[in-house]
Amino acid sequence: MLGMDKSKKTEIQKFFNDFSAHYNQSAFFDSEGLMYLDRVERDFIRDNTSSMKISRLLEIGFGAGRNLRLFKNKHIKIDGIDIAENMLEKTRKEFKEEDIVLKHEDVNNGLPYRDDLFDLVICIRVLKYIKNWRFVLSEISRIMKKDSYAILEVPNLFSVHVFGLFLANYFLFFIPNFIKELNKNGFEVVKVRKGAVFPFFIYKATNTRRFLSLLSSLDDVLNKILPIGLGSRNYIFLLKKV
Ligand SMILES: C[S@@+](CC[C@H](N)C(=O)[O-])C[C@H]1O[C@@H](n2cnc3c(N)ncnc32)[C@H](O)[C@@H]1O
Repeated sequence: MLGMDKSKKTEIQKFFNDFSAHYNQSAFFDSEGLMYLDRVERDFIRDNTSSMKISRLLEIGFGAGRNLRLFKNKHIKIDGIDIAENMLEKTRKEFKEEDIVLKHEDVNNGLPYRDDLFDLVICIRVLKYIKNWRFVLSEISRIMKKDSYAILEVPNLFSVHVFGLFLANYFLFFIPNFIKELNKNGFEVVKVRKGAVFPFFIYKATNTRRFLSLLSSLDDVLNKILPIGLGSRNYIFLLKKV
């Protein structure tokens, strides 16, 4: 079942193909608030992987390559899959000096790799587009070596996201249930980073350092006092395959 029917484009594929030209700018750099959201995720990846021994890395839904950029010039063999061919071409150009193989694939069809291959798998802001995300978790587990790591991110159902549920083109996750599925697939949760709490438009509109500092302090306080699964808009997990 591997390999996608390239003649039929899904809505998500069309959306990200159209978005590819200005994706990095509008998603991560247009305001101080967006840069902060980007930092939360990429700092988590950087801090947790800096001492790992990685020879082979996969990013699922690598987009415009913002996470892969953290692994440039590190002599790591990089693999990536993405459903949007325009994203793929853009990222391929930027990474042409690297030992990299980027594939145009739909993760719904499974991961086109053999078992026990990767030391690190990253999947950020992607599982929310995958109805059959349980199958994708099993596929991620399959292709990871024993004792290797994955960094996965999902949006939280019990957060302000829930108010946009009927407008959104993605799924929200009940975090305790997601953790159960992780465990079922042989993942141990090593670390959890709760993300921002307030609606996205507030971060998008935030352009002063002072307001951002207030916002991020409030995020930190709320994330400390609220229980797992309540409040923050997204969760990033560092997982070990046991
Ligand atoms: C919101 S972007 C995130 C990009 C990147 N992970 C990041 O954090 O910057 C989502 C990416 O997932 C890709 N994607 C969505 N559904 C996919 C699928 N079924 N199979 C493979 N890639 C998919 C999109 O094309 C897009 O590049």
